[in-house]
Amino acid sequence: MTDLSNYRKVYDKSELVEGNLPEDPITLFKNWFIEVEESGAHGEVNAMTVSTFGLDGFPKNRVVLLKQFTFEGFTFYTNYNSEKGRAIAANPNVCLSFFWQEMERQVIIKGVAEKTSVNNSDGYFESRPHGSQLGARVSPQSEVIPSRHYLENNLKVLEAEFDGKEVPRPEHWGGYLVKPVEVEFWQGRPNRLHDRIRYKMQEDYSWKTDRIAP
Ligand SMILES: Cc1cc2nc3c(=O)[nH]c(=O)nc-3n(C[C@H](O)[C@H](O)[C@H](O)COP(=O)(O)O)c2cc1C
Repeated sequence: MTDLSNYRKVYDKSELVEGNLPEDPITLFKNWFIEVEESGAHGEVNAMTVSTFGLDGFPKNRVVLLKQFTFEGFTFYTNYNSEKGRAIAANPNVCLSFFWQEMERQVIIKGVAEKTSVNNSDGYFESRPHGSQLGARVSPQSEVIPSRHYLENNLKVLEAEFDGKEVPRPEHWGGYLVKPVEVEFWQGRPNRLHDRIRYKMQEDYSWKTDRIAP
């Protein structure tokens, strides 16, 4: 047995106070994101877990990178034919989550995913390095492949084909915009009495906040 019961940490970095809450969760997300960046966090602050309902009935989480966020929602880029792409096509309800250890914070976002516009996906694809563009073309994400050699060989063929040329975005690769319906902010506090504030979207698209027991 590997016993981890002695892992214990006191959470005392920050707090969530009702009087200071912005009216919408995006503003609070932005404030938190900047504070985490400024806290000297190592690693990728924009790494988030995306959970989908799989076609096999199981939930599945995986990490992707948040590339944009606006008052509309949160955008990441992927292969639309991947396992997550197929899951989202069948059920666009997803959950995004961030764990920012340095600030003892967690954010959990329930939302509805939709493909970003062709223009948005083209714009982001064009901004990627040449090698990542070729990688997106070469990898049938989530499919079984015979070997690593298969990928590397196909990459070589594409490198020759697109040497000095612009790489077009494959149609099956692009962004998902996740429009939030509920956003929970969790701030670690001493004695396990953590702060949890939940924003829930109302029928008139305004946000209601509630404090949730830790
Ligand atoms: C730090 C990190 C960042 C990642 N960023 C992305 C990303 O932005 N887009 C993506 O499709 N996969 C990304 N991945 C890979 C995914 O976790 C996952 O393996 C891939 O999307 C296939 O998932 P699926 O088969 O469940 O669809 C990232 C993985 C890690 C660990």
